[in-house]
Amino acid sequence: MRRNIFLLLALAIGIYVPAQDKTFVVSVNKPIAPIQPTMWGVFFEDINFGADGGIYAELVKNRSFEFTKPLMGWKVDQQPVEEGSVLIQNRGVAHTANPRFARVTVNNRKRGSLSITNEGFRGMGIKKGLRYDFSTLYRSVSGKVKLYVELLNANKEVIGTTELRPSETKTWLKLKADFTSSATEEKGSMRLVFEGNGIIDLDMISLFPGDTWKNRPGGMRADMVQMLADMKPGFIRFPGGCIVEGYDLAQRYQWKKTVGPLEERQLIINRWNTEFAHRPAPDYFQTFGLGFFEYFQLCADIGAEPLPILNCGMACQFNSGEVVPLDQIQPYIDDALDLIEFANGAITTKWGKLRAQMGHPEPFHLKMLGVGNENWGPQYLERFKVFQKALKEKHPEIKLIASSGTDPVGERFNLLNTELRALDTDFIDEHYYRPPQFFFSNINRYDNYPRNGSKVFAGEYASHVPNTNGAVKSNWLAALSEAAFLTGLERNAEVVQMASYAPLFAHYDGWQWAPDLIWMNNLKIVGSPSYHVQKLYSVNKGTTVIPIQRDNKIIDGKDSLYATAAIDAESKEIIVKIVNAQPHEQKICLNFEGIKKLGGTAVHTVLQNDNLDKINTIAEPDAVAPKTKNIKVSGKKQPIAVKGYSFNVIRIKYS
Ligand code: AHR
Repeated sequence: MRRNIFLLLALAIGIYVPAQDKTFVVSVNKPIAPIQPTMWGVFFEDINFGADGGIYAELVKNRSFEFTKPLMGWKVDQQPVEEGSVLIQNRGVAHTANPRFARVTVNNRKRGSLSITNEGFRGMGIKKGLRYDFSTLYRSVSGKVKLYVELLNANKEVIGTTELRPSETKTWLKLKADFTSSATEEKGSMRLVFEGNGIIDLDMISLFPGDTWKNRPGGMRADMVQMLADMKPGFIRFPGGCIVEGYDLAQRYQWKKTVGPLEERQLIINRWNTEFAHRPAPDYFQTFGLGFFEYFQLCADIGAEPLPILNCGMACQFNSGEVVPLDQIQPYIDDALDLIEFANGAITTKWGKLRAQMGHPEPFHLKMLGVGNENWGPQYLERFKVFQKALKEKHPEIKLIASSGTDPVGERFNLLNTELRALDTDFIDEHYYRPPQFFFSNINRYDNYPRNGSKVFAGEYASHVPNTNGAVKSNWLAALSEAAFLTGLERNAEVVQMASYAPLFAHYDGWQWAPDLIWMNNLKIVGSPSYHVQKLYSVNKGTTVIPIQRDNKIIDGKDSLYATAAIDAESKEIIVKIVNAQPHEQKICLNFEGIKKLGGTAVHTVLQNDNLDKINTIAEPDAVAPKTKNIKVSGKKQPIAVKGYSFNVIRIKYS
């Protein structure tokens, strides 16, 4: 609480304004600017076990033995011990994307004397009564081996099992079985038990829950996708973030290696594996089970525009900072052109055909593409220009998003912002991770931006409480400051046409970076207070910004009140958003001008908590969550009471 005292004092200036009506004039017939359907989106990065170990529902870690240490995540148990009974072999050139497999020698073993156990990603989340789908690639080398798959609880007791009898095949085949769990366990594991006499090769050992999103085999965790779907995001920015850049160019994200058959998607180390010494994650790799096809499919599923970000020929400038020489940049450009073909091309084209083979003959309707993430300097400008020329020549219909570096101010930002505008870049991507005070005091950031030319994409931003860690960083104070700041974005929808918060997901036991929007363990999921702010903006987007003023001025902090208004031309509703950052209730009169009449009832949604330190947790997931009530509306003047520390959305029908 102490750390907030200064801010609270600052917010509380003018706190003892006697209770009085403050009139906010809403001019319904004076449209300012359209609000793009893409206005509020989300940013997905495989960070904090967001993809592997998160939304990608695979429960087996290191299923292909391709981690740097091939048996990481696996434990061999045997009695008696025979050296080499589980041996990693390497097919080298014969299978460059996935060269390793495990050769298991089962020497007259009884059930229980030889097994391998996978620990999952910080355990496996297992649900009682749910179907689990096991599969493995296998090849029989000699003899006969029987397999048992066992799900174990944290005490290593069996809570689900099935038996498999591999055939005597000399070529690789897939072996599958499904079975049901008898108990719920957050920290489960999976044991493969061998019996018989023979030698068997195994690869791509996999276990998925039966309740994936849309019940897709090998699909995504449904509860996590549902949280996204509920936000109705206008777009999904993927796959990063810094993982696009890579520690070095060899470790950059290459979309072509993330599509096609799973066993041919070449795993790489996740750069967040080693990035932060204080949050090491030695077992963090990118398997690409969630690859570009799956990202596009996710967008299509939830009605969001896909916004892929591609490497621009520069590795992360905080790491190796490698750049590709300009005369060798063509493969990077080709990746971009081929991606457009993969997403939109006819099924007769090379990449369009692959999309169809993967199950989506219809185009994905890609409309925008990001060139680089958080890259800066003249080196970035040189490379961006080459991309812009090549892409605009062939695909003028695709909007390009350029980076403005890591900070929203300073020389690096000014250089890029000036030069990119001179290049008439479609969108400039701004990032800011700052304390709450920055958000409260930057409400007017976009008021004086040029109305013509390049548009702003606020591609990554989050308020966070300094000197805190994990989910605590994103407390109610942080979210309230974002809610206030976003009034300034919506008000400037002519300039800011897309916005997305910091990373979407963080695993409580496996995060590297905070703030994050949604936190989860292996079974449960929690939206942060910021999640509710984002969702409220997104589902109450409206189609056109209209003026809302107090004493003929925008409402940008007087009495710690912040407001924006829009209409939804389709549903014929006025949508007013008000933030009250003072600790006590304030009474406001909404005075609607330019309408014939208002509907009889308004819906008032309130996100509120008296405690600015409050966070949502597994034990208390709804500590800060919206509540909705109906209010009676009569005449064109509507009194509204906004509670202390609250974000309010009021929807009123009009005609
Ligand atoms: O979101 C975490 C990182 O923050 C992103 O990868 C990067 O773009 C930003 O610096």
